Amino acid sequence: MPIFNFRDEDALGKVASVDTTNVIVDVENIDQLKRLQVNHLAVLQSSRPGQHLIGLITQVTRKRGIEDIDDDGIGEKTSELNLCKIALIGTMLDRDGDRENVFRRTLESVPEIDANCFSLDGENLTSFMRTLSSVSADGNALTLGKYTLDEHAVAYLNGNKFFQRHAFIGGSTGSGKSWTTAKIIEQMAGLSTANGIVFDLHGEYSPLVGSGIQHFKVAGPADVEAKRTIDDGVLYLPYWLLSYEALVSMFVDRSDQNAPNQAMIMAREINLAKQKYLEDGDKTDVLKHFTVDSPVPFCLDFLMGRLNDINVEMVPGARGEKQGDFNGKLSRMISRLENKISDRRLGFMFHGGVDVLDFSWLEKFITAVLGSSGENGKAGIKIINFSEVPSDVLPLIVSLVARVTFSVQQWTPSELRHPIALLCDEAHLYMPQRNMAESVDDISLDIFERIAKEGRKYGVSLVVISQRPSEVNKTMLSQCSNFVSMRLTNAEDQGVIKRLLPDSLGGFSDILPTLDTGEALVVGDASLLPSRIRIDEPKNKPNSGTVNFWDEWQKPVKDKRLSIAVDNWRKQNIQ
Ligand SMILES: Nc1ncnc2c1ncn2[C@@H]1O[C@H](COP(=O)(O)OP(=O)(O)OP(=O)(O)O)[C@@H](O)[C@H]1O
Ligand SMILES: [Mg+2]
Repeated sequence: MPIFNFRDEDALGKVASVDTTNVIVDVENIDQLKRLQVNHLAVLQSSRPGQHLIGLITQVTRKRGIEDIDDDGIGEKTSELNLCKIALIGTMLDRDGDRENVFRRTLESVPEIDANCFSLDGENLTSFMRTLSSVSADGNALTLGKYTLDEHAVAYLNGNKFFQRHAFIGGSTGSGKSWTTAKIIEQMAGLSTANGIVFDLHGEYSPLVGSGIQHFKVAGPADVEAKRTIDDGVLYLPYWLLSYEALVSMFVDRSDQNAPNQAMIMAREINLAKQKYLEDGDKTDVLKHFTVDSPVPFCLDFLMGRLNDINVEMVPGARGEKQGDFNGKLSRMISRLENKISDRRLGFMFHGGVDVLDFSWLEKFITAVLGSSGENGKAGIKIINFSEVPSDVLPLIVSLVARVTFSVQQWTPSELRHPIALLCDEAHLYMPQRNMAESVDDISLDIFERIAKEGRKYGVSLVVISQRPSEVNKTMLSQCSNFVSMRLTNAEDQGVIKRLLPDSLGGFSDILPTLDTGEALVVGDASLLPSRIRIDEPKNKPNSGTVNFWDEWQKPVKDKRLSIAVDNWRKQNIQ
């Protein structure tokens, strides 16, 4: 049974002009015109039987003109030009092979002049939305919520396409991004071998619990002191896991005139330290192939000892001893290193104890962080809390986890690979625009840009989440094929999303500032139609910290709150 049931007399009007993607309809009936709304759907008769074209109303105009003025100026005749502009977005086929009522995002034909146009509402709208929904609802479909146009129709997304070519979730603060992310996580967690890592920068996602979800936290000073380990859900990200470039960006001050020498010595000495580690452990097979970037532990004391020696080295000269080539040139680098090593906030990098220097540590770490649901009896969605990582090294550390993920996927033979998604909340903090970037950000950008460009081939998907689309790296955004855009109030941010929409839908983005909290404009290859969706509440809600100031100011204040804060601040630990 074809779903559309239109009578010619209900037509809105007839097609007056057609170009490749837009149609202008001459609306004959003024009452109909008044009821039309921008961003609602319309159906056009196609030149082919068994097909209807679906379009989005982008403009409605009523023009009045005085056509004819009689000599005496009294009997004037007014004319009206009532137009409605429609952007064509797809074709509804009554039948496609053995399937009935199939919607396609392609334009299989264009309407002819004088073809009838109908507004899609009431019963017709409900059946259309239902068709869309069930078309995509095969198996465990991904759904975020219901269509705003028809609150009874569940809006399904194609989960394969959503993750295949990266997705972006954007919206002003408090517009509902974290809740939307929680809704996605919740559904991922329901899949039997789901695999994903959530970069949780503020510990917002801690209320998300259930089978399929586990929590990790990058070690804070108190965790280091209590010697908590990965079995307690505490992660260490040791210095030796950082790439050579990342180590240099952390320890070498680029403005120092000795920077090139320092970087060179650093490469040489790290190589040496790794070599020593491998020799001491009799890892002869690795010894033959390792490079400065290989994930091989090395002893920091050994490195520091060597650097100190080189810095004070004396060599035989023509007349007695003279200073070595690098004598005194490493002082600043050494003191930077010493500062970092003694910084308690960086304990997760330098004070992981002897465990993290063990050759088997890496596999244990990777099994915990990259394992899928069900693998080794673990949960596949790993929420990693980065809230205690100092902001100056945050890009380095977040991207380290991304790099480890990408490397592991790359080094897995393709027939053994299992896909993984990285959900990157507050992405503007670690994938900024190049021109706003500092040197540590460069390292992070290189990694994320690489994943954005090549991740698909290795089964690594990015879900980039940010309140400032205009501050997020452009390459990242241009690689995303799916956009979940929530309310955006800033014009610059709206502009970014607008530019990403196809030209014919450009006007659709005008609703961005008026979207309700928890409402989103979803555009991309995962959704059959660009749609306005009311996102369902997730079962477990993130701690988004929405404070009711006015109410709070009428309640009693908690005892000793300020002295507790001062004490915690000093101890760098929330008691
Ligand atoms: N789908 C929804 N339905 C109903 N209310 C919602 C929905 N999504 C969000 N909200 C409300 O909006 C508040 C803020 O949501 P959320 O924390 O997801 O915002 P956000 O976009 O992540 O903000 P920020 O950028 O500051 O992290 C929530 O506390 C909740 O009250
Ligand atoms: Mg948030």
